[in-house]
Amino acid sequence: MSQQTPGSTAMQAPQGDAFENLSQENRRFAPSAEFAANAVVTAGEYAEADADRPAFWAKQARELLSWSKDFTQTLDWSNPPFAKWFVGGEINAAYNALDRHVEAGHGDRVAIYFEGEPGDTRTYTYAQLTEEVKKAANAFESLGVTKGDRVAVYLPMIPEAVITLLACARIGAIHSVVFGGFSAEALRSRIDDAEAKLVVTADGTYRRGKPSALKPAVDDALAHDGHTVQNVVVVKRNGQDVDWHEGRDHWWADTVGAASAEHTAVGHDAEHPLFILYTSGTTGKPKGILHTTGGYLTQGAYTHKAVFDLHPETDVYWCTADVGWITGHSYVAYAPLINGATQVMYEGTPDSPHQGRWWEIVEKYKVSILYTAPTAIRTFMKWGKEIPAKSDLSSIRVLGSVGEPINPEAWMWYREVIGGNGGRKQTPAPIVDTWWQTETGAQMIAPLPGVTATKPGSAQVPLPGIAVDVVDELGETVPNGHGGFLVIREPWPAMLRGIWGDPERFKETYWSRFESMYFAGDGAKKDEDGDIWLLGRVDDVMNISGHRLSTAEIESALVSHPAVAEAAVVGAADETTGQAVVAFVILRGDAVDTGDDIVQELRNHVSKEIGPIAKPKTILVVPELPKTRSGKIMRRLLKDVAEGREVGDATTLADNTVMAQIARSLKK
Ligand code: PRX
Repeated sequence: MSQQTPGSTAMQAPQGDAFENLSQENRRFAPSAEFAANAVVTAGEYAEADADRPAFWAKQARELLSWSKDFTQTLDWSNPPFAKWFVGGEINAAYNALDRHVEAGHGDRVAIYFEGEPGDTRTYTYAQLTEEVKKAANAFESLGVTKGDRVAVYLPMIPEAVITLLACARIGAIHSVVFGGFSAEALRSRIDDAEAKLVVTADGTYRRGKPSALKPAVDDALAHDGHTVQNVVVVKRNGQDVDWHEGRDHWWADTVGAASAEHTAVGHDAEHPLFILYTSGTTGKPKGILHTTGGYLTQGAYTHKAVFDLHPETDVYWCTADVGWITGHSYVAYAPLINGATQVMYEGTPDSPHQGRWWEIVEKYKVSILYTAPTAIRTFMKWGKEIPAKSDLSSIRVLGSVGEPINPEAWMWYREVIGGNGGRKQTPAPIVDTWWQTETGAQMIAPLPGVTATKPGSAQVPLPGIAVDVVDELGETVPNGHGGFLVIREPWPAMLRGIWGDPERFKETYWSRFESMYFAGDGAKKDEDGDIWLLGRVDDVMNISGHRLSTAEIESALVSHPAVAEAAVVGAADETTGQAVVAFVILRGDAVDTGDDIVQELRNHVSKEIGPIAKPKTILVVPELPKTRSGKIMRRLLKDVAEGREVGDATTLADNTVMAQIARSLKK
């Protein structure tokens, strides 16, 4: 495959040598007989879904959810790429996550075990959580929020985050969560784009034992005229002083605390918008990914049950993702509760107060299903297996991975040290590596733990009812043993319904690269068995610790600094975080290169513009940037420099001395 894809100079096909190593992987781990015998789904599910995909999803929708009005048509795909699932159906997401479990007699089952970073804990049963959500729904309505209004959510990982999301869903308001690690500026642009009426936030949270603030960012984000926000509800979490805007700001305890616990949920149309979640694309402006109700809940619930082999009466499930990302939406706020599961929610970092915190939590709550990201696993590997060995991890029976490719070494460590309780368990827990995206809404590729013989490093097979393929540049399916681009051939229930306020961008971004196929932006390979290996993004999106960031977004943050004339950003391979941000900047003629000072200042500037997660690890001041004759920056060459490789083919550069100039300046 050529390096440059026609029609897009930015898009790079996966590198050849990445394929070579993978072909050597021949370890297989079949499910134990006992696991397979008790598994909630069996191999028959694939054939059933293949025989009639819409019928399969219609069955899941009716089995897993309670509809206030049944749907009359499973899928309307008459106007692609705009899909309608479960047409005519009406459903309330919060009722499905809460009330119906209480009505079914499970009100005393624990919904959430919350563990705060300082060690405080709270437990919510399904009955209690239902009551809190009803109060929040009443409180938001009393602040003038009605169906279709947007609510921005800027909260830490505390139960109020889940309560807020479900309260919005209950009244048909559309939530737009902004990750607490994003800056005031990022929050402002998201609030403005969605024209939010209400913001729900907290005074702050705790990070590594110290209070960390959130409310000041909301105040900054609302410091300009012309915004649409009428009220701000503030959860008191860390007790720090906050500025108060009388009339606009309300303490959660006063509004939600005082509201009535009576609230009747009404059904909303299956295609009623549930939420917007902004994610990075290839341009500087994040996209508001829009999800709707019926299909999103169906696929979330089905995958959560099937991929984690969920037994809701006995399992304790813990997904470590923050509610600010899609994983925290689908697999913390929605699917586990829809499925009536008991889950753990943890506020803080893995190393607070010490590096064994997670494993103490697993032991304390007897976590049986753990879902986390490869970056965390690699960090634990670095810290050493003696740390988890201090805790009893024997309760773990399924391990999930998400967000980035998991290298076979990390996979094996996860299996043996965590899933095998440090070698004390005869049969280690199966690992399910789950590939999906903000846009897909729910898991798309993953093994089924009671069916699939798993393979270290591969996400393997599309889930039942999902049509994933790997194609070449012309959109033809590649044979086994070959790499190409990951696409989705058929609509799926949890698919994004569009980009908030920009239907053209939706078509252009995902549906124009290959005819009638969704283009995911990932490179992938099919091995000799036909199993899928994810090889990372082929566009200008980076993946830092499983967090999605765009090169263009960081470049525009850098050039907004008065000292910077031009900037180019690449994601360079990093042992722990998968990729790390490396920036090349040209300073303005009148800017003085103060060495470390300017680098530090620029790093802080990016942090202020986007958030600490986007801070470049390395900034290199260079005299020129490599560009093609049409003015496109050749990031591939910069990536070679950033990863310490010999620079590749530079013949298409407008000025072929540029790479030598860069090399000379870096030596200096
Ligand atoms: O490149 C893929 C990578 O994460 C991207 C999606 O990022 P985001 O929308 O933030 O959602 C992350 C959580 C679902 C994908 O395009 N990715 C996600 N899961 C995997 C993965 N790469 C390899 N293996 C995975 N299991």
